[in-house]
Amino acid sequence: MKNFYITTAIDYANGSPHLGHAYEKVLTDVIARYHRLKGERVHFLTGLDEHGQKVQQSAKKAGIAPLQFCDIQAEKFQALCAMLNISNDDYIRTSQPRHVKVVSEILQMLYDKGEIYKAQYKGFYSTRQEQFLQEKDKVDGKWPEIFGDVVEITESNYFFKLRQYQDWLVKYISENENFIFPRFRAKQVIEFLKEPLNDLCISRPKERLSWGIELPFDKDYVTYVWFDALVNYISAVGYGSETFGQNWPADFHVIGKDILVPPHSVYWPIMLHAAGIELPKSLLVHGWWLSSGQKMSKSLGNIVNPLDLIGKFGADAFRYFLMREMNVGQDSDFSLDLFETRYTSDLGNDLGNLISRLLNMGKRYCQSIVPAAGPDEDFEVQLKALAASTADEVLNLYEGMQFHIGLEKTFNFIRAINRYAEQRAPWKLAKSQQEADKILLNTTLANMAEAVRIAAVLLLPIMPTVSGKVLNLIGAGAVENFEGRTKWSNCLEGKTMAQQEILFPRPQENQA
Ligand code: MSP
Repeated sequence: MKNFYITTAIDYANGSPHLGHAYEKVLTDVIARYHRLKGERVHFLTGLDEHGQKVQQSAKKAGIAPLQFCDIQAEKFQALCAMLNISNDDYIRTSQPRHVKVVSEILQMLYDKGEIYKAQYKGFYSTRQEQFLQEKDKVDGKWPEIFGDVVEITESNYFFKLRQYQDWLVKYISENENFIFPRFRAKQVIEFLKEPLNDLCISRPKERLSWGIELPFDKDYVTYVWFDALVNYISAVGYGSETFGQNWPADFHVIGKDILVPPHSVYWPIMLHAAGIELPKSLLVHGWWLSSGQKMSKSLGNIVNPLDLIGKFGADAFRYFLMREMNVGQDSDFSLDLFETRYTSDLGNDLGNLISRLLNMGKRYCQSIVPAAGPDEDFEVQLKALAASTADEVLNLYEGMQFHIGLEKTFNFIRAINRYAEQRAPWKLAKSQQEADKILLNTTLANMAEAVRIAAVLLLPIMPTVSGKVLNLIGAGAVENFEGRTKWSNCLEGKTMAQQEILFPRPQENQA
């Protein structure tokens, strides 16, 4: 059986890790964990995009070799993955020989097939974006800010024949509804493809840029960064080897909206098609985290360092916030106030208090052993019905990438468990000498524990550490598969619960 293969974009080695990188990794990790819990074999790839002018310049500024600069950056980005508890199976760096080899092979193959030609180019070039520009890129007669310095140059370069595939691509995107998710993003691609495509300049003369992959058919040039970077998705899983088919085609390339058009929706499908390689099944395009409606970037000076929040509140709280607040595909505004509110109210008050309540009452009323549940009355019937509908809905919502609604429903259920405790008031039942009240007390604790178990299982992809801990605290042990675990089962009867635990300490108590 083929693995479920999922990738993130590979981050530019030039910058430092920020909230956008963190989000993309968390989102991809949540999907990867969800599929593992469904019993699938998953291969999850992330990595670093190391070549290009900017990296060369930064290394020069730092007085070190580009590769040494990238080694330092790779450590920073991998540290982010570790802090966020990202479960990637592999980490690709585009300077690795396994990647360089495949880029060269693809280039040579396309060259031999006549898909690449050499031509003279005269025109405008943006050094900042490392890209050639056309008159139509001007806004109000001027080059927009993002291009930085624009210079006029004449040089010979190699071009990849994109244009001849334009009609094929339009047809492919129109006929394959699942290729771009969410669907409204596909319309943007189709819109872009209404203008005639130019062939893609895939080389840079070495005299201008040396930090890149040499063209196998002309030693005076290196490969354009996008043509190099995109190939990571196949080089990492052994393109050309026998094992390639275990992963390829990828199920999802998870990317931000800024790199859909043209790199992932135009260059990449055409490169693959021209090389006779199957296309990935789907591009999952997420939105951007904004700060007061602006793009979060170093130059705006409002970057949020995710590491600060992770250290202060814990990785799972941070993961919860990102998944709860972002409707996948849309943009979302980042606010520290909102983060703190979610931490205190959803995690601390609703989930955290529920667990400490359950453990405390367990200790007080039944020696921390989960009792047997007695017969159902109205409150029990309601709780069980909500457990069943929540589990069904949440799994469906996860399947459709609607994690924010899935979490909303799970937390509605968690609040309903708290309500159930109040309706039954075990602290009152415990004072009664009546046999019927004793049975009801046991029923309440058993049902609370079972309901918490189901909620924790549903939260596993999003908050793996916290959910695992909760499952341990109530005596459920490790859960590695959803199968049979999201249904009401009374499987905790006789299990020993922990005595006490504070899951979400107030941030000041949690500071390292
Ligand atoms: N190196 C290219 C990708 C090559 S993939 C073959 C690149 N790198 S990046 O570091 O600039 O961005 C990495 C990912 O982070 C992209 O998918 C980008 O959309 C995403 N984000 C960067 N800033 C972001 C936000 N503020 N919010 C959400 N994601 C954003 O592009």
